[in-house]
Amino acid sequence: MSSSRFVSKRMDHIDASGVRRMFELAVSRPKAISLTIGQPDFDVPEPCKEAAIEAIRSGRNAYTVTQGLPELRERIARELKDRFDWAPEVLVTSGTSGGILLALFACLDPGDEVIYADPFFVLYKYAIHLVGGSPVAVSSYPDFRMPIAGIEAAITERTRILLINSPSNPTGTIYSAADLKAAAELARKHDLLIVSDEIYTDLSFDGPSPSIVPHAPERTILLRGFSKGHAMTGWRLGYAAGPAPVIGEMIKAQQYTFVCAPSIVQYAGLVAMDTDISANVEAYRHKRDLVYEGLKDAFEIVRPGGGFYVFPKVPEGFSNSTEFVSAAAERDVLVVPGNIFSNQDTHFRLSYATTDEKIVRGCEILSEVARC
Ligand SMILES: Cc1ncc(COP(=O)(O)O)c(C=O)c1O
Repeated sequence: MSSSRFVSKRMDHIDASGVRRMFELAVSRPKAISLTIGQPDFDVPEPCKEAAIEAIRSGRNAYTVTQGLPELRERIARELKDRFDWAPEVLVTSGTSGGILLALFACLDPGDEVIYADPFFVLYKYAIHLVGGSPVAVSSYPDFRMPIAGIEAAITERTRILLINSPSNPTGTIYSAADLKAAAELARKHDLLIVSDEIYTDLSFDGPSPSIVPHAPERTILLRGFSKGHAMTGWRLGYAAGPAPVIGEMIKAQQYTFVCAPSIVQYAGLVAMDTDISANVEAYRHKRDLVYEGLKDAFEIVRPGGGFYVFPKVPEGFSNSTEFVSAAAERDVLVVPGNIFSNQDTHFRLSYATTDEKIVRGCEILSEVARC
């Protein structure tokens, strides 16, 4: 029986082979230093664990209302009011991924275009395809700053959304307030919705990561989550905030898809919002410095400002990222080929979400591979 008989054409656009290749490589090299992981190496803070356990024990295990626990939504609203003097509608989502999917569901018709910078978080392209939209990636090489001119050139009659991600996966770049202001003006001029994925905002190392919200509060859907700053990757909690007409449609879409974010985790999220994670941020600032110092002499590299990734250029002598990644794997260091996150194949992604020892040794070996 041919499985394709039962599978939608939409799935032709979804390619899991890059990530699978990395997984296979990792399994085949169990002793290797893995610099591939997309989650922090610290654990969920104890008060959050206690809150989730207490929620289970006290029977708060049922569905919550679709838009999320009122007390969590109020706490999020207070945060956004304090930070941006902004009073958006708030929706609690199943991770930031859930928020991305709901925003696309709510705002795209088939064939509508979404513009985002290349390199990009791999889910964007596929989530846009899943809802029948058309992804348009605009190069931000070589410095990974907001490619304003390229974005404007890519806008067509079908463009609906400008999707931005700062701090960025895979580059660690943080957009400047000036670039965000320029992007907001562009979105206003062409009447685009902005979706701002700020999942790494807690992990920003040289002062707070600027947001586009103050520059376009009337047309921004802000997406944040608890997976990175609070290491709650498996707990699936995030939130979306923005203009009521759009968030209202996202709530409808959530009602018939995710139903609600996990109830017990929402109680933990309430505690997470008042949990101090500054020691983890400090530790990751140190890791960022270690990785930058460890690679800068052997690679062309943009110093990251946040998150836990860096995206160096493949050195001369290697024809593409796959070739370099294979050479590094031979020396038992695993990194991710850049073509998973990009339409070009010239860089690789390194995650420094691991021990300082592994970062230092991994960077030494990668530098040796680059020089040979
Ligand atoms: C840029 C970016 N956005 C969203 C996500 C998804 O996060 P969540 O676990 O909240 O769905 C990730 C996870 O790697 C990410 O890197």
